Amino acid sequence: MTGSSRGARYRVEPGGEVAGELTVPGDKSISHRSLMFGGIAEGETEISGFLAGEDCLATLRALQALGVRIERPEPQRVRVSGLGMEGLTAAGVPLDMGNAGTAMRLFMGLLAPQAFDSTLIGDESLMRRPMERVATPLRLMGANIRTQDGRPPVQIQGSPQMRAIDYALPVASAQVKSAVLLAGLRAFGRTRVTEPAPSRDHTERMLTAFGVEVLREGATVAIEGGQRLIGTSVAVPADFSSAAFFLVAGCFAAERGLVLRNVGVNPTRTGLLEMLRLMGADIRVHPVRHDVRPGGEPIADIEVRKSRLKGIRVPDALVPLAIDEFPVFFIAAAVAEGETLVRGALELRVKESDRLAAMAQGLTALGVENQLLDDGLWLRGSTRLGGGTIESHGDHRIAMAFAVAGLVAGSPIEIRDVTNVATSFPGFLQIARSAGLQIESA
Ligand code: S3P
Repeated sequence: MTGSSRGARYRVEPGGEVAGELTVPGDKSISHRSLMFGGIAEGETEISGFLAGEDCLATLRALQALGVRIERPEPQRVRVSGLGMEGLTAAGVPLDMGNAGTAMRLFMGLLAPQAFDSTLIGDESLMRRPMERVATPLRLMGANIRTQDGRPPVQIQGSPQMRAIDYALPVASAQVKSAVLLAGLRAFGRTRVTEPAPSRDHTERMLTAFGVEVLREGATVAIEGGQRLIGTSVAVPADFSSAAFFLVAGCFAAERGLVLRNVGVNPTRTGLLEMLRLMGADIRVHPVRHDVRPGGEPIADIEVRKSRLKGIRVPDALVPLAIDEFPVFFIAAAVAEGETLVRGALELRVKESDRLAAMAQGLTALGVENQLLDDGLWLRGSTRLGGGTIESHGDHRIAMAFAVAGLVAGSPIEIRDVTNVATSFPGFLQIARSAGLQIESA
């Protein structure tokens, strides 16, 4: 990243009202998977509603480097000409995953059983993130993977003779689950993955849509090795994690209501809805349609109105179902009446930044009393926040969360290092402004 892009900032003026209707960009998790699964499927895959953000573009470029033909007739429409399970070829250069943890971890599962070697690298943030959680189960399957002190670069020596395992995930992680299942597709025997708590199930759904038989036995997902994927069409819903910023904005400042269109409401993603409702939010979910084909994702319009929020103790079971929404949830809690407590959220320390520490630091800068815990955060809400300068630590969701805080701040908020907003939410500034946030790049 260049010095000047690192210097990109937002300046948010205090107050304002949000209103109207908006559609946020496509789901990041589903966009990554549609490209990868399309690449190893037989035949064409047509993707609509694709998220043209930097993370998914890193996946797209990596697949091209592995020999997959990909066309983009429009920014959000992608046509992938699948090469089948054995058709990928060596990239010959390190594959750069940029800021995308999902891309790196899922590619580990996809590339470990290939007949060629691969090296995976990423940006400064990704090069600090833990990869042994994926390398460990893949090695049990026979993979030959090297990390550097547990972190990228990830060096994969292709091992086409992998075997199925029965693996209990130590943490609820859709990325680890997905990597093991992807490797399981090429392994001998039936691979089983058991989760300590439910994590997002887009892989299981989408593999089904591509014709794979996915078996579910309670907390265990199982697939038989040697199955083929058949190309299909994938309609990517708007990303609930991007809609989340406007759900909280609506709780703060939608006197006349704010409607978010065509949002993916897969129940393994919508923990924030439950959390905001427990806080007293006025949110209505109007189902639009459920893609009735096998593996379809549920979609809804979500309507939110301004309401007074009260602090809560977040139920542990909701943590994995809201894992990416904690930055903006803490902003909601910062102006809720009373105290809020989150525990059991250790995973937040190994996201694009240490999100517990980054949020504690930012909340302190805005005058919010808080206490950083090993695995969570305690804070006391106040009706109005102060202004000040926020370090995003190059984390897209920290940057966008503090942009929403402007609606309830008493003076301007400046947010530093916002370039990575483009990894998940291209066009955030324009959409936020159209909704009513008084935000500009500084
Ligand atoms: C993702 C899974 C989650 C999430 C990430 C996307 C996915 O990570 O935080 O943004 O697409 O599978 P973990 O698997 O590490 O919980």
